[in-house]
Amino acid sequence: MKDEYLMAVDTIDGNDIQTLIEWLQTEPRLTHGERVEEFQRSWAQWEGMDHAIFCNSGSSANLLMYATLLASEDLSNRKVIVPAISWATTVAPAIQLGFEPIMCDAEGDTFGLDPNKLEDLLKEHNPGSVILVHVLGVPCNMEAILSLQDKYGFKLMEDACAATGSLYDGQKVGTFGDLSSFSYFFGHHVSTIEGGMVCTNNKRYDELLRMLRSHGWAKDLDAEAESQQAGQFEVDGFNRPFTFYYPGFNLRSSDLNAVVGLAQMKKIDRVCAGRVANHKVYQELLTLDKGFTLQHNDRAEICSIACVALAESTEHRERVTAALKSHKVETRPLGGGNMSRQPFWRSRYPEQDFPVADRIAASAFQLPTHPAHSPDDIRDICGIILNT
Ligand SMILES: Cc1ncc(COP(=O)(O)O)c(C=O)c1O
Repeated sequence: MKDEYLMAVDTIDGNDIQTLIEWLQTEPRLTHGERVEEFQRSWAQWEGMDHAIFCNSGSSANLLMYATLLASEDLSNRKVIVPAISWATTVAPAIQLGFEPIMCDAEGDTFGLDPNKLEDLLKEHNPGSVILVHVLGVPCNMEAILSLQDKYGFKLMEDACAATGSLYDGQKVGTFGDLSSFSYFFGHHVSTIEGGMVCTNNKRYDELLRMLRSHGWAKDLDAEAESQQAGQFEVDGFNRPFTFYYPGFNLRSSDLNAVVGLAQMKKIDRVCAGRVANHKVYQELLTLDKGFTLQHNDRAEICSIACVALAESTEHRERVTAALKSHKVETRPLGGGNMSRQPFWRSRYPEQDFPVADRIAASAFQLPTHPAHSPDDIRDICGIILNT
């Protein structure tokens, strides 16, 4: 047994810090520059997407996805379906940017959007967009959701902030939507201290993301796109760098964070393989006949940020989490649980029933899958749980 088992351990190690020190000793320009472009190219290539736009958090990445769809004028309306099991900043941009969010319950298998309930909402509201979350790394039921997209024609945002490296039918999550987001927060699959990325295969969305990320100006576009943008407004040459085309933000990160990100790319496959292996141990050992239900998706390879188990009841969860605590195994609830129960939502919208999300929130607890722990460590953790 180890002395303690933490949920989140730093993925930035001594070698990464050494790389950063050596780079700093070259006295670089400490702002947003060429290293950011390099990290974006590296991420896009690893993810298998045409464009990747680095920003200062996963939450900012989500904000940029919504803002890009608005600015694109591709949306048929401002209604957006948001998942009951999600994260505060999966939903918050809808409120901040004047969308009309409509919440959808989770399904019991993946904890992601329930395709049947989603279809009911699509029929009733005909929303212009949908945002999904691959909850803690377990891919949503993508075949059903993509066929609904074909049928109803909404724009799809994929919040993959906690799902880097997970596969559905062998395809990486974050490659299915019109836009997708990732987080590089401490203890996530890889970290840039703080940071996030948006991916897209749509060239216009890439341009909008770059403009919205930086004040609404076009300085970060390639020369041809910048010139087209300026041409539309007959901007004279002298004023061109300080022309603001969209009501933008400043959500940039910096070369310093990108240097850390580039160092992480050297080990991302190893990190992901460790998480996949650890998650599989929980799946083998914490089964229904032992009193636990785990998220599952038979078509997925799950590279989770943590494994979520459902106990038989809230009391059962209390017993198990007390035993874990006494052995210094860190555990926590499932993020924000049912988002409709959070004050920011309850204070705005009428109460609705999301029975599956409620059931999940009432008995879920998270377990570490961080690759600092080995599969044998995970077996030890499962031993504590099963002996309770
Ligand atoms: C699903 C999901 N979306 C968004 C975020 C926000 O990411 P960040 O902490 O980088 O802002 C998180 C954070 O854990 C998350 O789990």
